[in-house]
Amino acid sequence: MDILKRIAEYRDREKKLVWEGTFADYLDIVKENPQVVQTAHSRVYNMIAKAGVETDSQGNKKYLFFSRELFGLDRSIERLVEEYFHSAARRLDVRKRVLLLMGPVSGGKSTIVALLKKGLEHYTRTDEGALYAIKGCPMQEEPLNLIPRELRPELEREFGLRIEGNLCPSCRFQLKEEYNGRIEDVPVVRVLFSEDDRVGIGTFSPSDPKSQDIADLTGSIDFSTITEYGSESDPRAYRFDGELNKANRGLMEFQEMLKCDEKFLWNLLSLTQEGNFKAGRFALISADELIVAHTNEAEYKSFIANKKNEALQSRIIVMPIPYNLKVSEEERIYRKLIHQSDLADVHIAPHSLRAAAIFTILTRLKESKKQGVDLLKKMRLYDGESVEGIKDIDIQELQNEFLDEGMSGIDPRYVINRISSALIRTDANFINALDILRSLKDGLDQHPSITPEQREKYLHFISVARKEYDELAKKEVQKAFVYSYEESAKTLMDNYLDNVEAYCNWQKIRDPITGEELEPDEKLMRSIEEQIGISENAKKAFREEILIRISAYARKGKRFDYNSHERLREAIQKKLFADLKDVVKITTSTKTPDENQLKKINEVIARLVEDYGYTPASANELLRYVGSLLNR
Ligand SMILES: Nc1ncnc2c1ncn2[C@@H]1O[C@H](COP(=O)(O)OP(=O)(O)OP(=O)(O)O)[C@@H](O)[C@H]1O
Ligand SMILES: [Mg+2]
Repeated sequence: MDILKRIAEYRDREKKLVWEGTFADYLDIVKENPQVVQTAHSRVYNMIAKAGVETDSQGNKKYLFFSRELFGLDRSIERLVEEYFHSAARRLDVRKRVLLLMGPVSGGKSTIVALLKKGLEHYTRTDEGALYAIKGCPMQEEPLNLIPRELRPELEREFGLRIEGNLCPSCRFQLKEEYNGRIEDVPVVRVLFSEDDRVGIGTFSPSDPKSQDIADLTGSIDFSTITEYGSESDPRAYRFDGELNKANRGLMEFQEMLKCDEKFLWNLLSLTQEGNFKAGRFALISADELIVAHTNEAEYKSFIANKKNEALQSRIIVMPIPYNLKVSEEERIYRKLIHQSDLADVHIAPHSLRAAAIFTILTRLKESKKQGVDLLKKMRLYDGESVEGIKDIDIQELQNEFLDEGMSGIDPRYVINRISSALIRTDANFINALDILRSLKDGLDQHPSITPEQREKYLHFISVARKEYDELAKKEVQKAFVYSYEESAKTLMDNYLDNVEAYCNWQKIRDPITGEELEPDEKLMRSIEEQIGISENAKKAFREEILIRISAYARKGKRFDYNSHERLREAIQKKLFADLKDVVKITTSTKTPDENQLKKINEVIARLVEDYGYTPASANELLRYVGSLLNR
């Protein structure tokens, strides 16, 4: 019955948040905590800032408010927060513009808006995000708007804040009729935003553009009371229940904004320009809210191509939200989507999602004009890997080469759909990279928006992803064949380094067991160096470079280890694998393993299961596959 207890606790918590008092009481709150009167934009910005920011060594920022749900979009988010939310919070003009998120399908636009909405619901329940309104106001109006214009400068000086809004028609009426102008008596309540209750958060979704009624945005005449009050300009005969009303002080999502008829959009002009809108027969109504819309690139382009939209266009701030371009982040997206779906219990063999992500990212990248940076290398650089032969390349420079990189390509939902359909087709209880790549390939034929040229290109990317996977698979199996891989690599490296040191210093090496003095083991050193193509002539320079690296590490008090020198690590790995190659090849491909081979296979499978995240079945399949690769 724990859940009943939790429900009761929840109710208590919500009850504690209830506050009601008079305008006079509210003034005391404002004096103590002027934050409660902040604008909608400033509240949103503070909510985002409060969740925290991480800055990496290159100065890139990660806003934690978004980064728990959205992966690989840090650059776009940073721009969105800084250029829009931060400026808007400082009352710069951008806050009067509609924020338009523009990006490809399934790129995370709706998720950004959903995070803001959920965030606000929560934030208004905290002390920092608290806000108050005139009781009973359909637009949860800021109580300070009750103060007449003449008196505002004085109050603003005393409290150091700004009061901008006009009292809404309904509150104006109440003040006069019910409270006889006694502002101090007007009741004030604390407001908790809730999308379900339509408080502070609104969503507008256009219906048929021709018959769209502006009332959905700004409210409408209340036909049940109009006869009673006799006039359309009596606020009691009007329902202030449009999305713009309901979202006052908070956020309104404008879905499919550019699909709306342009005449309809004109109504937004005054709101975005002057911060107020027209409803019925009333004076302009002030609104303090963030309006977020989203659209795709094609729709946006045709919108701006239309001259008639110029005025609107200047009232919109467009923020591009391109796809993520990092393989490892793409994998996280799939994991998240799989976790949320009914695929969650299926075993997906290691590296499968990576293979899919490699394909997807390749479809999104644009070929750089820089020398030596092909698509695959660019993909690696973007993902933070260092790439052989490319040093000191400025990633930012690559990123700035194309403004619209990431605006097209394969979307994450497509990949998840293909994984689902791969699952349906298999009778095994797992799927691996090959199943997924095959399914991605088959799906291209059914994909509605792929041209024949694109299809060719995509097929090529699938084969690139397949090759990348093959390398990963081989490495995995070879590693699993080495008893304690890390340790073997370390031993081999220490051995190599001892010899290199002796060689460079013209010294001998002492055999640890016999104590005998020996020449450095040239054969061993060469067998490692040859793995990465170091010629006889270049060996001395290479060895010296390694020694210099070691002493540089020592000076900084850092330990030189297996991962400290990229190329050396690769050489060691290749050497270990080369020694094993025949064993692996024979063991994995034999149809009738002898007793020893069988033992080895079982050992390797056990290691794959224990240390590398396979199931016995998927490990078996991997061995078979790698066996066939090695025998090609
Ligand atoms: N970069 C990302 N990080 C995490 N999840 C993502 C990312 N991009 C997309 N997703 C996920 O993919 C799904 C689709 O994204 P979302 O609905 O936000 O896209 P959208 O841009 O609104 O697409 P549409 O144009 O189709 O409306 C969501 O579940 C979202 O969480
Ligand atoms: Mg969407």
